[in-house]
Amino acid sequence: MIGRLNHVAIAVPDLDAASEQYRNALGAKVGAPQDEPDHGVTVVFIELPNTKIELLHPLGENSPIQGFLDKNPAGGIHHVCYEVEDIIAARDHLQASGLRVLGDGEPRIGAHGKPVIFLHPKDMNGTLTELEQV
Ligand code: CO
Repeated sequence: MIGRLNHVAIAVPDLDAASEQYRNALGAKVGAPQDEPDHGVTVVFIELPNTKIELLHPLGENSPIQGFLDKNPAGGIHHVCYEVEDIIAARDHLQASGLRVLGDGEPRIGAHGKPVIFLHPKDMNGTLTELEQV
């Protein structure tokens, strides 16, 4: 069921500094910051040969990233995202396997314009896990 690693999302306290680090020190292909008000984040996409890194920074007052940065002021891995072919089938299988889906369990449109769900980190070895239908 599980497919490719689509991205690793890293919450960062300073988006410009993190972007410059990936661009200059690591020599990565770094995109421009994109505000995503619906998700309460500003995102910088970094394309690697085999996956993506997404730098996340809080946007607005109720950003889901702010609490994470309060607990992890230096930043940290916020979630990983795996690809699935059929998000409803994946969700039903995971729920039947005893894993909790965050929210009301219905897929939402994620940062890439595709349906996503998030699995509870306590059911996933302490890792917030996103599934994206591709
Ligand atoms: Co994501």
